[in-house]
Amino acid sequence: MISEIEKKIKEVSFFKSKDPKEIEKFRLKFLGKKGHISYFFSEFKKVKESDKKAYGLAINELKKITLAKLEESKIKGISKEKNNSKFEDLTRPSSILELGSRHPISIIRDKIIDIFYKIGFNISEGPEIEDDWHNFTALNLPEHHPARDMQDTFFINKDPDLLLRTHTSSVQIRHMENNKPPIRTISPGRVYRNEDISARSNCFFHQIEGLYIDKNVSFSDLKQTLIFFTKELFGKSKIRLRPSYFPFTEPSAELDIYWGLNTETDYRITKGTGWLEIMGCGMVDPNVLENCKIDSNEFSGFAFGMGIERITMLLYQIEDIRILYENDTRFLRQFKNSI
Ligand code: PHE
Repeated sequence: MISEIEKKIKEVSFFKSKDPKEIEKFRLKFLGKKGHISYFFSEFKKVKESDKKAYGLAINELKKITLAKLEESKIKGISKEKNNSKFEDLTRPSSILELGSRHPISIIRDKIIDIFYKIGFNISEGPEIEDDWHNFTALNLPEHHPARDMQDTFFINKDPDLLLRTHTSSVQIRHMENNKPPIRTISPGRVYRNEDISARSNCFFHQIEGLYIDKNVSFSDLKQTLIFFTKELFGKSKIRLRPSYFPFTEPSAELDIYWGLNTETDYRITKGTGWLEIMGCGMVDPNVLENCKIDSNEFSGFAFGMGIERITMLLYQIEDIRILYENDTRFLRQFKNSI
């Protein structure tokens, strides 16, 4: 049986024609309802269990090269047709060109960037493959610090030490090393964590982190900035800052916004509380400033960081994070009009 398929594969590879009639005949012979391929598929149940895999692979191969041949012949056929005819048919309707749409993560990322841009933040970027210093040590997370476990890391190499960055705080370290205060920057980018893939989490995602360093920056500056941000992005300004812990900020907090309990969905996504956690934030720990050669007696600052997927899922009411990465055009097409 397999040898028969192989014979057909050979036959397909020798097929050559630019004549549309011949090409159609070829198509029917192989791909038609009563064509070879559907015949081979229908024979599948008769194949011995041990041969099934090889048989299946052979049919798929036959199908693949038949489709490729068909495509190739059609293209050649069209160019032949063009060369032969003196005039194009100008009245022929044009083929439909599908316009692409922007990915929801890019849409939300740019919205967030625009908001911070309005209040004087610039954008900084850095490498996704980082070293231990920028991802951990400089952020007040020395080796063996237990808080390193908060972000399960993909390590690449031991010496020199390389890893996939677990947050874009690493970009902020690079920015502080290369710039003098006042600093107002946000760093969008992809980050990686060794986590199980599920509806709520993935082994990579996107973040935007922000950093503001100047003289006399206080916690109330942080609070005002966050109120401005949540009002602009969500249209909501009732927030609460819950005490939390990050090694690189002191004090640290988690920002919740009051989402409301108006619909059934609101109940579900806020677990009946009306409150939603949006980001981590806090005042930059003096150790971090010193690590970047910034005098912590003269300067202070705040930092914050959020996951773009989480916010995208909230704003578009997407229940499963994985759909964001499948590139299913039926999903993506829905964002055509949201720029
Ligand atoms: N880097 C933190 C994270 O990825 C977020 C954060 C940034 C928290 C800045 C506080 C200050 O979880």
